Amino acid sequence: MAKVTVPYTQHFALTMRRMREDGLLLVTTGADGRPNVMTIGWGTMGCIWGRPVFIVLVRPSRYTYSRLEESSDFTVNVPPRELAAAVSHCGTVSGREHDKFAEMRLTPVPSRQVRPPIIKECVVHYECRTLHRNDINPATLAQAVLDDAYPEGDFHRVYFGEIVAAYADEDAAQRLAR
Ligand SMILES: Cc1cc2nc3c(=O)[nH]c(=O)nc-3n(C[C@H](O)[C@H](O)[C@H](O)COP(=O)(O)O)c2cc1C
Repeated sequence: MAKVTVPYTQHFALTMRRMREDGLLLVTTGADGRPNVMTIGWGTMGCIWGRPVFIVLVRPSRYTYSRLEESSDFTVNVPPRELAAAVSHCGTVSGREHDKFAEMRLTPVPSRQVRPPIIKECVVHYECRTLHRNDINPATLAQAVLDDAYPEGDFHRVYFGEIVAAYADEDAAQRLAR
């Protein structure tokens, strides 16, 4: 299936829906260039500083966090429902001990603009170059969110990635809608 360039907002609603349903797949590489994939359930897209941006939240305890600190580009990949088991696995085990690409038979394909690969079996892809990062500040966070999301601390670092390429399978809308 050919991957065609799309406006970054083209599959916004379906991307957010798949994020809420199973999660999206975030791919990073460290200084050594080895790709690792983890599931994300929180994030969004929009326009900041006049640029298209994908925002992801990563806790310091994740292997992905240390990889992102070494090499801050990332890709976000939207999985079809058939990949639900792989998405669950990538959100349960760590790349410190597991080669999740191999275990889940996910195929890394070179990106167009950034070092981390995309995942061939996914349907929509966003290549991102980090413009800014900051940490959730518990002193300014609503108590309800603090209680719900951070009982053990491990406050997310928020990465603002400029979307430098967005592309999708030609039948992305049909595949993700079903
Ligand atoms: C549905 C789902 C959504 C998740 N969303 C996030 C997220 O947005 N941020 C985060 O830091 N961890 C999130 N996690 C947890 C990580 O995916 C999980 O800890 C993963 O094993 C980390 O992998 P790594 O150590 O290879 O980076 C999520 C897990 C699941 C199952």
